[in-house]
Amino acid sequence: MQKGKSLATFLQETTSPDLSRMLLSIAESTKALSHAVRNIGMLNLSGSTGETNVQGETVQKLDDFSNNIIMDLCKASGVCAGYLSEENEDMVTLSPEGRFIVSVDPLDGSANIDIAAPVGTIFSIIPRVTAPGPVTHADFLQQGDKVIAAGYAIYGSSTILVFSTGEGLHMFSLNSDDNHYYKTHTHVSIPSNGKIYSLNQGNLSKFETVSQQFIEWCIAHDKPTSRPYSLRYIGAMVADMHRTFIKGGVFLYPAAIGEKKGKLRLLYECIPMAYLTEQAGGRAINGSQRILEIMPTELHERCAIIIGCRDMVGKYMEFAGAEVNA
Ligand code: AHG
Ligand code: MN
Ligand code: MN
Repeated sequence: MQKGKSLATFLQETTSPDLSRMLLSIAESTKALSHAVRNIGMLNLSGSTGETNVQGETVQKLDDFSNNIIMDLCKASGVCAGYLSEENEDMVTLSPEGRFIVSVDPLDGSANIDIAAPVGTIFSIIPRVTAPGPVTHADFLQQGDKVIAAGYAIYGSSTILVFSTGEGLHMFSLNSDDNHYYKTHTHVSIPSNGKIYSLNQGNLSKFETVSQQFIEWCIAHDKPTSRPYSLRYIGAMVADMHRTFIKGGVFLYPAAIGEKKGKLRLLYECIPMAYLTEQAGGRAINGSQRILEIMPTELHERCAIIIGCRDMVGKYMEFAGAEVNA
């Protein structure tokens, strides 16, 4: 088999030693999670822990396991000052002298575990802004345009690590023979001719009017623009976004009528995916604002999201009448 460059070599050539160390630690944790996902039946990791997380959602055993692995490896890196996870109510100080703040969705799409459908891990890395010592809210509550690296791993029919350090979007595949990541695609751009829209359409009547109008446009017949578009929805943001990066189109989790915020979490779902999307030439908005310009006010804040190729998000903006700087 013809292998691309290894992740370690690529990072050594393209990033600082500290950031490379941070990313390699996260990558290492995704290898352990990939193994756990693929061997869930043998490891007694299916089902729930019987607890609910800070969001009031049922914690799967694999959610908990994933969080512990990632947090341990972030700590072992020695460069991660603070850690925030969907599964922890509060932020955690890991290395008081570290330079980086990491926010993580350890296992995205956990409802897919029981049906052997794709799941993943999403992360973003921002610089610490306070002096060494315990981390504070100010370290985590930074606008998305402060992100210095972000990415996700998808545990699908293969395991792929996708990330950016601000110079394009790169994809590395996990080789099951030697358990190393190797480069498969660099400088990925979202195709502009995608014909797919992706949302939980069962909720359409609950979503605000602009989203309903946009979906009506997606399914209207129009030969020149190849409409109606196809609907695809996996129910794991990681998997729906991975398809969007490869095949184009748009993914939405809009706000419900009368609400401003959607379901997905700003710090460890929307911001990292928005950063990656912009790196791949696409756009990400909450309906009226570029996601990367939102100033977070809470660790587990939720956010509406419309994300994908420039033209489709642009079309949504036309319906919204929004002058968004995106
Ligand atoms: P998580 O498993 O980390 O809680 O995330 C689930 C999220 C996201 O991955 C997906 O896009 C969305 O929930 C699906 O929500 P619906 O079931 O409401 O469609
Ligand atoms: Mn998630
Ligand atoms: Mn999750």
